Amino acid sequence: MKTVKIKDKEFGLFLPQQVIEEAIDTVAEKIKDDLSDSNPLFVSILNGSFMFASELMKRVNFPSELTFVKLSSYEGLGTTGDVKKVIGLTEDIKNRTIVIIEDIIDTGNTIDSVVKELQKEEPKEIKIATLLFKPKAMVKQVDLDYVALEIPNDFIVGYGLDYDGYGRNFPEIYKIKS
Ligand code: IMP
Ligand code: MG
Repeated sequence: MKTVKIKDKEFGLFLPQQVIEEAIDTVAEKIKDDLSDSNPLFVSILNGSFMFASELMKRVNFPSELTFVKLSSYEGLGTTGDVKKVIGLTEDIKNRTIVIIEDIIDTGNTIDSVVKELQKEEPKEIKIATLLFKPKAMVKQVDLDYVALEIPNDFIVGYGLDYDGYGRNFPEIYKIKS
């Protein structure tokens, strides 16, 4: 099996490029069926979703816009855990169909705080498109509209996802060796 080493960790091939891109084909078809007439604004969350966003948007052949945001973490006063804040969104999203493009939904905490923050600007609707979903890790109640691949609760890298900053460039996905 093909393996890669990043720093102290070994990873084995888990999802080849063809499997990933066929799953993106399927998601893109659903998005076309649902949103062709809604002039959506796709909001890609950097850094992790850059590769998924690129492949997805090549397949979105209807009028739409694409923008990129980052998330900054800060300690919420009086709350436990990190709250994520969206930075870099300059577009007016009021009454607009928004499609958030994420790399992975793990606990769901990140996407939950992003959705709540965007809701304040009164978009028409917010859809979520994620390349990967770990259903067993999810602790939040968030509807995921477009999931390319469901995966088990293992740490993975590649196709945008990193281990300590490395591995984002792999065109396939690798799983940590236990
Ligand atoms: P959540 O808030 O727990 O859903 O975490 C989402 C974020 O954690 C993702 O956007 C990733 O940046 C990171 N993450 C979760 N699981 C993995 C993984 O298996 N590999 C790399 N990053 C991950
Ligand atoms: Mg991410």
